[in-house]
Amino acid sequence: METKYLIVDKNVDSHDAYAQAVDFLNKGEVVAFPTETVYGLGAVATDEVAVQKIFAAKERPSDNPLIVHIANKEQVRDYVQHIPEVAQKCMDAFWPGPLTLILREKPNFFAENVTAGLSTVGLRVPDHPVALRLLAAINKPLAAPSANRSGKPSPTKAQHVAEDMTNRISCILDGGATGVGLESTVLDVTVTPPVILRPGGVTKEMLEAVIGSVIQPTDKEQENPNTPKAPGMKYTHYAPEAPVLLIEPETENVQQAIAQLQAAGHRVALLASESFAESEANYFFTYGKDDNVDEMSSALYDALRACDKTDATIILATTTTRVGVGVAIMNRLEKAAGGQWYK
Ligand code: TXA
Ligand code: MG
Repeated sequence: METKYLIVDKNVDSHDAYAQAVDFLNKGEVVAFPTETVYGLGAVATDEVAVQKIFAAKERPSDNPLIVHIANKEQVRDYVQHIPEVAQKCMDAFWPGPLTLILREKPNFFAENVTAGLSTVGLRVPDHPVALRLLAAINKPLAAPSANRSGKPSPTKAQHVAEDMTNRISCILDGGATGVGLESTVLDVTVTPPVILRPGGVTKEMLEAVIGSVIQPTDKEQENPNTPKAPGMKYTHYAPEAPVLLIEPETENVQQAIAQLQAAGHRVALLASESFAESEANYFFTYGKDDNVDEMSSALYDALRACDKTDATIILATTTTRVGVGVAIMNRLEKAAGGQWYK
């Protein structure tokens, strides 16, 4: 299948690109589009055959449900059995935005494979002009997981989508780099108190300011079989080809680690803030300015993907503190590293 690559730029008239994308979607094809978090791989959420094409293109396990993207919060009542008060408050406060709410779905509305057979559905209104214009133009909910092949870092640029999806899907809408850079926070509001199934740009503190107590299991607690989970969180994720080792961003330690790994024959790629630019690493990719978690979250996946273009044999990734957005960053870094720290 040939993939059509269409640029949707606010400076050019993109009417025709949206018309083509809508046409593909209505014919049961898959279209990648940008959101404020990462690029999504979209199909009409009521079309089981189209949704199956998403799973095939991603090589995604069929027990991992997809997030459904909708144009506005008013539509939610058409898709769910009941809107709990906390859910309404979250929608009012954070939509459009990087928050997915898990709610009890109306039976037999979405295609069975969207929800992987669960009786709940994840819904969100993305905060991106291209995603919103596409949703308005098609006027149907779109199931869309991140547009990477399973296991790879999520795409934050159309180029990343092209690397993973060329000739696997019908169309890519290129709307430039995404902003947040990490996938949405997934909040289960079918339980009391609500549980964060995946940390993201909307932090625990931001949620608690609006709805009161929220449970955020630690990465350790996630391993407990009784902890509620997003089915996807059990799979390997975000991993470049070379092994990743985590290390705290202390200059001397990092320099020593680089020297030791090189002495052992490794070519080292270092992921760190700008202040490490002069290190002796063989390759250096930056997260941006020191102590800026927003720049770090926005740059992380691009940096992880950049390592795959080098012949580095090991990746040293500096960490951040687990507060605010740092919780989500560390969650993704731990997964990319398979929990391995430099020792
Ligand atoms: O920012 C995002 O959320 C991006 C953009 C494209 O919107 N999408 C995204 O989708 O990250 P995906 O499919 O890569 O991740 C969805 C996560 C998975 O961990 C999945 O298991 C969980 O949400 N999830 C989806 N529906 C669920 C449900 N009904 N119950 C529990 N977890 C669910
Ligand atoms: Mg994903």
